[in-house]
Amino acid sequence: MPTMLKIAVQKSGRLQEDSLEMLRECGVRVDNGRDQLKVAASGFPLELFFLRNSDIPQYVADGVADVAILGQNTVIEKEKDLEEVLPLGFARCRLSLAVPKGTVYPDITWLNGKKIATSYPNTLRAFLIRHNIEAEIHEIAGSVEIAPNIGLADAICDLVSSGNTLFMNGLEEKEVILKSEAAIFASRNISTEARELLEKLIFRFKSVLAARN
Ligand code: PRP
Ligand code: MG
Repeated sequence: MPTMLKIAVQKSGRLQEDSLEMLRECGVRVDNGRDQLKVAASGFPLELFFLRNSDIPQYVADGVADVAILGQNTVIEKEKDLEEVLPLGFARCRLSLAVPKGTVYPDITWLNGKKIATSYPNTLRAFLIRHNIEAEIHEIAGSVEIAPNIGLADAICDLVSSGNTLFMNGLEEKEVILKSEAAIFASRNISTEARELLEKLIFRFKSVLAARN
């Protein structure tokens, strides 16, 4: 049985399509039925695991998957020590704090004593501590931008890409906590054989990135 590089990609979500397209441009073919979660690729000794986005950092940290294509924001939020091998230039976004439009917001101290809804509690907590702010964090899994409108929170902390979701929900961006893009991350426990395959794959990724620029 030849060694295969085990790569985790999003099962569903905003990164999936671009990740698979990137692999295709690298000459990796993946013919998966929608529900097959473990698929061997052709064109490169690669095995794909289709996983829930938020589970992926743990799988890679544990070495269950050798590498992953993932947003930097997710790795930071999950506080896993992974090696960032190569940023990929897509899925660019930022994690920001936003408040209802028209709020008088002189500076960040406005957040003291406020309730903030987010899907990024760890990143937000670290940011608040850095800025000496005491606020209540209310974790929700999605549709975070609805929270101020339904009286659940005073502010939100969520990803912003086009800014459309903020705009449509009457929110204004006030603080950028971090900027993020998709990247290839590797396990700290990667085997020598897998590392060699990864180097070959990285070579292909770099050619594709160079051709795109
Ligand atoms: C993501 C993110 C923001 C929005 C940002 O949500 O949580 O809400 O996209 O994109 P925009 O700035 O281009 O509008 P998503 O649509 O993935 O849904 P979810 O939060 O309910 O998971
Ligand atoms: Mg959202």
